[in-house]
Amino acid sequence: MDFLYQYNHKKELVNKALEEELGKVTGSHGKLIDSVKYSLFAGGKRLRPILLLSANELVEDDNEDKMHLACAVEMIHTYSLIHDDLPAMDNDDYRRGVLTNHMVFGEAMAILAGDALLNLAYETMINNIPVEQDRMRGYLKAVSVIARASGMSGMIGGQAADIDNEGTDRTEDMLTYIHQHKTEALITASLNAGFLLSSQNSELLEPVIAYGKAIGLAFQITDDILDVTGDFPALGKKPGSDTKNSKLTYPGRFGLEASRKMAKNLIDEAVMHISVFGDRSEFLKCLAYSILERTQ
Ligand code: IPE
Ligand code: IPE
Ligand code: MG
Ligand code: MG
Ligand code: MG
Repeated sequence: MDFLYQYNHKKELVNKALEEELGKVTGSHGKLIDSVKYSLFAGGKRLRPILLLSANELVEDDNEDKMHLACAVEMIHTYSLIHDDLPAMDNDDYRRGVLTNHMVFGEAMAILAGDALLNLAYETMINNIPVEQDRMRGYLKAVSVIARASGMSGMIGGQAADIDNEGTDRTEDMLTYIHQHKTEALITASLNAGFLLSSQNSELLEPVIAYGKAIGLAFQITDDILDVTGDFPALGKKPGSDTKNSKLTYPGRFGLEASRKMAKNLIDEAVMHISVFGDRSEFLKCLAYSILERTQ
């Protein structure tokens, strides 16, 4: 399978759909729109929307609702990055290969751009609720999963714990809590949401979630590793941010080698879970392995 070709194809579809969604915005403030578009279209791997589309494709060929939710998770993710980079949070200067939003537009506009993207995510999801009963049920369940994973019991909770534990030498449990919430939650929710759009095969949701939990944690472990070993041109953000902020990280707690091993074990576990889908799991298997190799 040509994994990269397929990944880039999905990425193009997501980018096009995001352009369309942003094109529908009217009556906003010019500088705010510029600030939102600056971060949303600066690049980015589009991992979460691609996971959402791919989880749906495990069981359906052409679901017309999936792209709205895919756009929404990318909007939520991009807002989380804009806020994550703010001086009051990680205080970083580069993101997606360009200056961070607040460095270009100022802190106030960056906060508002994040707010705007979060709101637009919900507008996008609500404005596209399907009318047909069966489709509506799965769609609303998916929206609820995305909302919870993005909120205070999910990503925002993880970000709060991350900030609150800077400079501490806390337990492994706290470290795992932070990573599972700030990063894994939205990754698992993206897969869960994509799968929930299909009304069939609900008994197969469990392996999809298990796959999400494993790649989600592995993804943040590799993010921590790249903060030590990565380089700016590939990463698009300056390494050393975690050390600068005395963050609780896997390499900080266990060392690089042990962290790599943990990530590898998680990816093997993820691949095992998703294999129940046979040939249809090929893309998500390749995607899982690509997390171990990533440089960006
Ligand atoms: C960065 O996410 C923040 C983390 C959760 C580690 P990505 O590495 O997916 O960032 P983009 O979207 O590709 O810029
Ligand atoms: C951020 O984790 C996770 C988010 C929810 C944005 P990091 O702070 O490690 O992400 P990067 O390294 O800045 O992308
Ligand atoms: Mg952070
Ligand atoms: Mg950060
Ligand atoms: Mg990081």
